[in-house]
Amino acid sequence: MSENDLTGLFDAALAAQRAAYAPYSGYQVGAALRTASGRIFAGCNVENASFPTGICAEAGAISAMVAAGERAIAEMLVLGDGEVLTTPCGACRQRIREFAAPETPIHVADRNGIRASFTQSSLLPHSFGPDNLAASRRD
Ligand code: THU
Repeated sequence: MSENDLTGLFDAALAAQRAAYAPYSGYQVGAALRTASGRIFAGCNVENASFPTGICAEAGAISAMVAAGERAIAEMLVLGDGEVLTTPCGACRQRIREFAAPETPIHVADRNGIRASFTQSSLLPHSFGPDNLAASRRD
C-alpha cells in the first residue's frame, strides 16, 4: 500500500461523504475501495423516508465496482464524523467479505485522516462466504 493509494481512497471517500443523503440520521458516511487494477469506486449513504430502505456507503461503493465489471476489493476506506469510529456495520462487513480477501485492509477515517486500520477477517471472523456454498454443492 503506497501513500498515493491511500490518498486517492481518502479523497474519494471524503468527496462521497460530502454528497451523502442523510437527512434523517444526520450521519454522513463516505466509502471508497480500490481494486487490484487500481481503479477506485466510491459510495455514500442514501437514506429514505421509509427508514429501512436506506443504504450504506459501503454498499454503494461495492455496487459501483460490480457494475463496472470488477470483483475484487484490494483496499477499502470508510469515512465518517464523530468521536466513535465509523466502523462498517454488520451487514456491510458481510458485503465486503464477499469481494475481499481475509487480509484486505479496511481503514476507518474521519475528515482529518485515518484513525484505525483493520483487516477484513478481523472485522468479520469465522465468516460465511462463497466457499461455504461451494463445499456443499453436489452438481
Ligand atoms: N452507515 C453507513 O453508511 N455505513 C456504515 O457502515 C454504518 C452506518 C449509515 C447508515 C445510515 O444512513 C447512517 O449511517 C446512520 O446509521
